[in-house]
Amino acid sequence: MRRVPATFLSLISLDYRTKTPMYRQLYDWFRRAIIAGQMRPGQRVPSSRGLATELKISRIPVLNAYEQLLAEGYFETFVGAGTCVARSIPDDTLSPPTVKAGKGQHESAEKRGLRRLSRRGVALTDIPAQSWLDNLGAFRISLPALDQFPIGIWSKLVARHSRRPQRGIMAYGDAMGYMPFREAIAEYLGAARGVRCESSQIVVTTGSQQALQISAQVLLDPKDRVCMEEPGYPGARQAFMTVGAQLIPVRVDQEGMNVAEIIRRGNHARAVYITPSHQYPLGMAMSAARRMLLLNWAVRTGAWIIEDDYDSEYRFGSRPIASLQGLDTDGRVIYVGTFSKALFPALRLGYVVVPKDLVPAFSAARDAADVFSATLYQAVLTDFIREGHFARHIRRMRMLYMERRRSLVNAIQIQMGDTTEVIGVEAGIHLVALLPPGTDDVAVSKKAAQLGISAMPLSVCYLKPPARGGLILGYGGANAHQIHDGIGKLRMSLQAH
Ligand SMILES: Cc1ncc(COP(=O)(O)O)c(C=O)c1O
Repeated sequence: MRRVPATFLSLISLDYRTKTPMYRQLYDWFRRAIIAGQMRPGQRVPSSRGLATELKISRIPVLNAYEQLLAEGYFETFVGAGTCVARSIPDDTLSPPTVKAGKGQHESAEKRGLRRLSRRGVALTDIPAQSWLDNLGAFRISLPALDQFPIGIWSKLVARHSRRPQRGIMAYGDAMGYMPFREAIAEYLGAARGVRCESSQIVVTTGSQQALQISAQVLLDPKDRVCMEEPGYPGARQAFMTVGAQLIPVRVDQEGMNVAEIIRRGNHARAVYITPSHQYPLGMAMSAARRMLLLNWAVRTGAWIIEDDYDSEYRFGSRPIASLQGLDTDGRVIYVGTFSKALFPALRLGYVVVPKDLVPAFSAARDAADVFSATLYQAVLTDFIREGHFARHIRRMRMLYMERRRSLVNAIQIQMGDTTEVIGVEAGIHLVALLPPGTDDVAVSKKAAQLGISAMPLSVCYLKPPARGGLILGYGGANAHQIHDGIGKLRMSLQAH
């Protein structure tokens, strides 16, 4: 085959101003030309000397580029025949097929969105963009008071474990988690949450989202029915969707999830997801009678109960409400918790407490997910708990959040009292402001997001259209000034609507 003609070479344009070395630019050019089918298998390439002369550059970058292309199998050489494009490169080009997009332009299949995803992939992509989550301004849901975190103590503990790290901190760790950390969690859960477990039942996870994901993988098959609180936590919905589960909405009232509805429907749910200590997002606690009913039903039908105890450290008027897991005598409850609200979400540390016979399956699923959580932070948090900093921080934050909650309720009453109704103020770090019937809460949230305010619309927590919209307002991360200012902007957003 003939050498590449000079006209062809004129297409190689080198950029002398960029930081990309000359040899790399040449290498990239040839690679692209081969992949796009512009240079065919067996086609001879210019001699390194010829190309250097043609491009008016030294021969060294050309030689380096050719050497790399030979090493990666794009070029091959024959004694006496010089260098050519490897003949083993498939003849039909590697470039993606293109179609005419009118006016002589070509558009790739990727841009036209023709690539096939799984049904679950499509379902996940169908979740609308949530512009209210893009900023960390006032009322960002799930955000604790980051500026109040004892960062000095934390960094000393990080330094303690990093200065002379033990092998255990740096090598591969146990998929179930760092044992001293699991022991500290088990003790804490027994004392503070009435959870009955041993450290061997605790699986450390990358936040509680992963705990939900793993629970879904271990317990559910595609099309299995999962009863969800209506309204409920969208993150749990996502986790169950990734395994192809069928979501069944079950209404909540003042006593929490309406368990009688599950029993009446008799639709053989495989699992129930609930937030009994502090219903997400409406805020009520599940009554004792409903807890018993749910547990008895689960024992009778063999269903699993996934209890998400995401922010129960913060209960204001009364003593903390004990976990549902503590009442379970049949190993039906999978208990999920997180340090995201008590400490900070970027820590990505959570846990799931599993019945003893499920430990091997959860351990294998945890290993398959991302092997294990960073040991350094597990060790740091163990000391943080053991040395009393965790309990102290929670006590301080409880006082602070009571203050912030009061500021928020006052600000709403003064500035928006005629249009909203506040519910769910007994616990946690968020409340719900119900909007006048007929208000499009998504439109109000989008408007607020434009003003730098993060207010999650209540309707996104529903599987079916809700009777009344509202805004879920987080107050953990906003001080009194931000709260006052933020409510002013929310009022404007509501009026604009
Ligand atoms: C009800 C509920 N469960 C779980 C989580 C997830 O927390 P994590 O950051 O641990 O994944 C949240 C966070 O907002 C939540 O509101």
